[in-house]
Amino acid sequence: MFNKKFLAATLLAATLLLPTTSYAAQNEIALPTVETTSNLSVMEALSQRKSSRNFVDKNLTTAQLSKILWAANGTNRPDGKRVNPAAMGAYSVEVYAVTKEGIYLYDPANHKLNLIAEGDFRAVTTTGQSFATKAAVNLVYVETPEVWSTARHTPPREGQISFANIAVGAMVQSVALAAETEGLGNCVRGSINRDEFKKVAKLSAEKNILLAQSVGKCN
Ligand SMILES: Cc1cc2nc3c(=O)[nH]c(=O)nc-3n(C[C@H](O)[C@H](O)[C@H](O)COP(=O)(O)O)c2cc1C
Repeated sequence: MFNKKFLAATLLAATLLLPTTSYAAQNEIALPTVETTSNLSVMEALSQRKSSRNFVDKNLTTAQLSKILWAANGTNRPDGKRVNPAAMGAYSVEVYAVTKEGIYLYDPANHKLNLIAEGDFRAVTTTGQSFATKAAVNLVYVETPEVWSTARHTPPREGQISFANIAVGAMVQSVALAAETEGLGNCVRGSINRDEFKKVAKLSAEKNILLAQSVGKCN
């Protein structure tokens, strides 16, 4: 027989231990350490990679969100170098996570999300593809040319743009493979409401929206 105090303590402990499926309206979301083992091999994930558009409007677990952001732009070595390569080690692409609850900027060094704007702005990440409004998270990849100001060599502007676009190719593919390991769908998207997203995400004038990627559970 459970007494009432024991039952209440057990329920509280179970609640605290469960992975949260809602990450609403927090100013910061500390993402859990990424689980790097998987039942799916890299080759199996490659063989399954595809674009999906049949999203259902269900949040990811924080563990899944953590994995997706880490694959997109996380660090994988103590010196701060990242999962994905970047020309001259100048990481000139940042990643915004647009969820039902808000727009967050991913902080690779601290593996956390920082709130930029509260509210559901998923529709602003597309020019009309309604599936994006159901995807749990829409990643928006944004070039930050200011990183070149502290680089050892500064390539001409066309070189910077080309390097950023190449880096994004690696980033979206890593996310696609990580999504497969979680049974999640993904779709890379060039169709973004750039003017509106720039406003709602409070992007400074020099920043350049490159690509979006919807990730989430699918039918
Ligand atoms: C740079 C780029 C931009 C894309 N833009 C869109 C887009 O705006 N909307 C969309 O539904 N799919 C978009 N796609 C996905 C392609 O349509 C898709 O990869 C292609 O049809 C091949 O299908 P698969 O990914 O299932 O192999 C884009 C893909 C890339 C690489």
